[in-house]
Amino acid sequence: MSQRVIISTNLESEIAEALAECEHDKIFVLTDETTAVKCWPVVKNYFSLKDAKVITIGATDTHKDLDTMVHVWKSLGEGGASRHSCMINLGGGMVTDLGGFAAATFKRGINFINIPTTLLSMVDASVGGKTGINFGGLKNEIGCFQAASDVIISTRFLATLPITELKSGYAEMLKHGMLSSRDEFIKLTGYDFQNADAEHLLQLLKTSVLVKERIVKEDPHEQGIRRALNLGHTVGHAFESKALHDGKPIAHGYAVAWGLVAEMVLSHQILKFPTEDLHRLAEFVYANYGAYHITCDHYDELLHLMH
Ligand code: GLY
Repeated sequence: MSQRVIISTNLESEIAEALAECEHDKIFVLTDETTAVKCWPVVKNYFSLKDAKVITIGATDTHKDLDTMVHVWKSLGEGGASRHSCMINLGGGMVTDLGGFAAATFKRGINFINIPTTLLSMVDASVGGKTGINFGGLKNEIGCFQAASDVIISTRFLATLPITELKSGYAEMLKHGMLSSRDEFIKLTGYDFQNADAEHLLQLLKTSVLVKERIVKEDPHEQGIRRALNLGHTVGHAFESKALHDGKPIAHGYAVAWGLVAEMVLSHQILKFPTEDLHRLAEFVYANYGAYHITCDHYDELLHLMH
């Protein structure tokens, strides 16, 4: 999988350079209703984007569906997109997943660039070529592996995010830290959201992206080691689905944080994951994400969802 991940220092020149290397006749920018207002204005006056056509879709995961895909395909067609057009996905994981799939399938595939605007999409969704939509009530049921030619990560977009969004993305960083080294795990669980320091977060983010890049390079199609990136997700997805069914949706990263704790309890019991580290993780998650309340009465339902 060939994909360049750039930690931005000069967004305008990095976008211009990425577009120059990505042969194109027309440029389309995919935004959702939030990024159209909060992020597109940051870049729309860049010279390289002066002729770009904007396609806007509904925000949130409820729009990550076939109807929205059809809207994007139609907008590309009506906007005169050819096989040589290029799409820029400007948004969170929903935009980069759906936009990547739209680009991968339109006229059998056009080039695309991801500019993730949430921490979750910066450290996880936009990197590694997983694209897709929800279908038939199942998340990411239809999609394909197709890497963006470039992923340009600019932390300036993080300033527009609510703290819950930041924490949601941070849970995936915690996961990457646990998959990489104890040192990284200690650093990540020492982070203080109350006194958030942008430079400190950037350093942690860089390392986190490298972990993801290393794993997807080794196993782009998830035949082996990439499965490790699902750490915390078997239990986390069950919490997320249960919360959705109960009409009280929870953010993906929060579910992952709680899933990490639950899975590390099992790891402690079965594989001797150290008590000290289990406590460190649980304390960090409890302090920053609170708790997801379940009782033994919910075990069957959760187990069913995990299966
Ligand atoms: N989000 C997990 C992966 O990209 O494999």
